[in-house]
Amino acid sequence: MNTETCRIINLPKIADPRGNLTFIEGLNHIPFIIRRTYWIYDVPGGEMRGAHAYRTNEELIIAVSGSFDVMVDTGAVRVTHSLNRSYYGLYIPIGNWRELVNFSTNSLCLVLASGKYDEEDYIRDYDAFKKIRTGE
Ligand code: TYD
Repeated sequence: MNTETCRIINLPKIADPRGNLTFIEGLNHIPFIIRRTYWIYDVPGGEMRGAHAYRTNEELIIAVSGSFDVMVDTGAVRVTHSLNRSYYGLYIPIGNWRELVNFSTNSLCLVLASGKYDEEDYIRDYDAFKKIRTGE
């Protein structure tokens, strides 16, 4: 599995008195080609999204509006990133378990993904994920 680590990517921000602008180019600002975009919204208070890993999919997660936390688990280490700026993207390489929690009211979570939707690419069982990561 990929050993790259999850990290915050500071995206370009074009500050303008008319309103700020941020953009992303695949393979330039992020290390993959974008094949899919989806977004999560209208999340009721206290709900969690995610809670799975992917076998081959990489992604960038952005709090385009509002805030939420992303817990990323490598199988050995857990780190929680609080996203609350629309010019920060959280890059999650292949093979990390992630959970999205603490969504603020009206938050909008944008996800850029390297692959098309494929249920076969999901690892939804945490113990199975740990086994794959640790090789046990
Ligand atoms: P899922 O990724 O499982 O969301 P979460 O991990 O937050 O529960 O997706 C929920 C449902 O949406 C699942 O049945 C598959 C479907 N889905 C698509 O059809 N296309 C997509 O690109 C995504 C992300 C999900």
